[in-house]
Amino acid sequence: MKVLKFENNEALSEKASEVIIDKIKELDQPVIGLATGSTPERTYELLVEKYKADQVSFKNVTTFNLDEYVGLEPTHINSYHRFMNERLFDHVDIDKAKTFLPDGLADNAETEAERFEALIKEKGPIDLQVLGLGLNGHIGFNEPGTPFEARTHVAKLVESTREANARFFDHIDEVPTDAISMGIGTILDAKEIILLVHGEAKADILRQVIHGEITEDVPASILQKHPNVTVITDIDV
Ligand code: F6R
Repeated sequence: MKVLKFENNEALSEKASEVIIDKIKELDQPVIGLATGSTPERTYELLVEKYKADQVSFKNVTTFNLDEYVGLEPTHINSYHRFMNERLFDHVDIDKAKTFLPDGLADNAETEAERFEALIKEKGPIDLQVLGLGLNGHIGFNEPGTPFEARTHVAKLVESTREANARFFDHIDEVPTDAISMGIGTILDAKEIILLVHGEAKADILRQVIHGEITEDVPASILQKHPNVTVITDIDV
């Protein structure tokens, strides 16, 4: 794993936006995997700024998001569909027909997870996957204990993740209990991965991810085995 350490969130987001733009420019039909959450917000703002400054076009880009909550409509203020539209897709020249997230309202979430996995197989592989890191080491919604070989599946959010995400909702009871998430096996199929990690609160878990034992108790630790992972962070590790 390569680790790039930056002064602050602004600098790490600048670097992340550069890596994404370089990948988009390098390939005719780039497939980019995206994350939601607080960490990539500034990166997406920078992508929009750079698009507006004519530094990049998203016309040929296909995207796959890591996850979506089960039970939230795409227009729900906390759905990841809405997050992506508001933070990125609505402001750039991407073809929305080529932006894919799991459907949290599908009648059968398991079938939807299989459909999403098949779609990645059909249109992939993912050339560059953007990841954030949960306080418990999760990537996507692959909580501790999830088998490393899991494919896209219906994931139960552990209580600490629901608590962490409650900041976006009026009340913790409104935080969904389930999500459809790419599995760790799905994530590892990406040709290149950038793991964005911001803030001292994640220092301990990031050190475990980079230097600790590879264990399903720390889902992101498996990234040590992937041949092309760059950690982009403002934490000293
Ligand atoms: C989001 C996702 C999650 C987040 C993680 C960190 O699509 O899959 O794994 O990346 O929970 O979230 P933040 O960035 O809000 O700390």
